[in-house]
Amino acid sequence: MTVKIAVLVSGRGSNLQAIIDSIEKGYIKNAAVNVVISNKADAYALERAGKHGISAVFLDPVGRDRAGYDREILNVLKEYNTDLLLLAGYFRILGSEIIGAYRHRILNIHPSLLPAFKGLHAQKQAFEYGVKVAGCTVHFVDEGLDSGPIIIQKCVSVLPEDTEETLTARILEQEHVIYPEAVRLFVEGKLKVEGRSVIALD
Ligand code: GRF
Repeated sequence: MTVKIAVLVSGRGSNLQAIIDSIEKGYIKNAAVNVVISNKADAYALERAGKHGISAVFLDPVGRDRAGYDREILNVLKEYNTDLLLLAGYFRILGSEIIGAYRHRILNIHPSLLPAFKGLHAQKQAFEYGVKVAGCTVHFVDEGLDSGPIIIQKCVSVLPEDTEETLTARILEQEHVIYPEAVRLFVEGKLKVEGRSVIALD
């Protein structure tokens, strides 16, 4: 059986690309990205989807409240019989209806070692705080901000010569490693959620 994946994006889509490549190379088996949904018409991620024959859908949030917008997303998810929803650089908060409908079936990638540096510009927050170790996190999405159970984290050392840009680039490299890994574990049915803990039965 193929796990049907939908990806929500707002921009560049390098994490989307990492997932697509991992499926095409056979690292993630028995899964397909069926649809990519963006809240931005000019998101490069939509072009990436098109290049791989994946449906690319722009849903305009202008003039809709959150619940109305989320219902439109839910309609697309249902249309594509979505099993797993991935947030990949999606810069909007998801409402409780979608989260409830897809409990423990929504993943997000965040560029910090959660619970530190939630929200926007996490790498900048970490850099300016002066941490010696930064990193990234894949977690299940719950009703809070970047607060769901953690699936995988990867550390990145902050080097004396680092700038915010060089640190961000090294974190991104690791994002492209752990997001496909987390998706593979999900697709293989190896993730078990116990309260706040996620056990990977790999
Ligand atoms: C990544 O740093 C991700 O962790 C964060 O937003 C950025 C999206 O980058 N949530 P991309 O669109 O996947 O290239």
